Amino acid sequence: MKQQLENIESEAIKETSSCDSIKGLDDLRVKFLGKKGELTAILKQMGKLSAEERPVIGQLANKIRQDIENVITEKMNELKEKEQAAKIAAESIDITLPGKPQSLGKLHPLSIVENEIKEIFMGMGFSVADGPEVEYDYYNFEALNLPPDHPARDTQDTFYITDNILLRTQTSSVQVHVMENQKPPIRIISPGRVYRSDAVDATHSPIFHQIEGLVVDKGITMADLKGTLETLMKKLYGDDCKIRLRPHHFPFTEPSCEVDISCYMCGGKGCSVCKGEGYIELLGAGMVHPKVLAGCGIDTEIYSGFAFGLGLERMVTARYDISDMRLLYENDLRFLEQF
Ligand code: PHE
Repeated sequence: MKQQLENIESEAIKETSSCDSIKGLDDLRVKFLGKKGELTAILKQMGKLSAEERPVIGQLANKIRQDIENVITEKMNELKEKEQAAKIAAESIDITLPGKPQSLGKLHPLSIVENEIKEIFMGMGFSVADGPEVEYDYYNFEALNLPPDHPARDTQDTFYITDNILLRTQTSSVQVHVMENQKPPIRIISPGRVYRSDAVDATHSPIFHQIEGLVVDKGITMADLKGTLETLMKKLYGDDCKIRLRPHHFPFTEPSCEVDISCYMCGGKGCSVCKGEGYIELLGAGMVHPKVLAGCGIDTEIYSGFAFGLGLERMVTARYDISDMRLLYENDLRFLEQF
């Protein structure tokens, strides 16, 4: 029996030393030391031994069990270390490789100028209001003194969703929302997208941007309108910039005007940019029509107001001397990276 035990030991050591996988070692542990393993099989026959032999063989068996256990554990540690080292080697990063360049985005010129305009108005005590792009006919036309049969609707023919709901043609609709929800004094601007069924060319797009302005308070006059717009234009285009108000008609302002700035190219002498005019048209404005104020529940005996609507694209093309508005929408990086 002693011989058998020693054979098991030498066999176990031999097999362990030639084993090169963790799974293989687990199998060896079962084979030699498990409940149905070789060592256990021998120990089951201990009953057949004499009383003197039993403790001697028992001791030997325990020693051998311990030896085999040690050898397998040692080998196991060795294999695990190797595996770990291989894993680390496989995962190592070559820090001498050049990195992937991270390109940094920047603001679109429309956003740049919009932000500048917002800053300037916020400095004058205005806040920024928002309104829906999908709008009721009432807010886009009717409340702005454009009843259903008004001829001026034709020039702003738009995309109708139902007879009663449309994509707004002007941010002036926000004036009505604001006056319905807020008592004077009111001092807001409202930038946003507007829609008109215009064909695309160098100065037209069916989707473009406006910035609406509205002030309602006691004693507001056309002089306040002019002063406000002059401040805006000088801040945007420099102190030499002059503004010019020309009489015009809008149903929701009375009196109404169009506002031009002196040409940034020639300073007013006349050139190809201003088509010889010396001035460039940028916005519509006027004193809010009493009908519009009254329709929003504002007492016209106490309050008056001015409103304006600037075309953001025009402001941008004038600011950066861009000849074709379509460039603003084409997402050509060669163009956009210049700003
Ligand atoms: N809503 C007008 C337009 O789109 C501009 C405007 C706004 C005119 C406010 C007067 C007052 O042409």
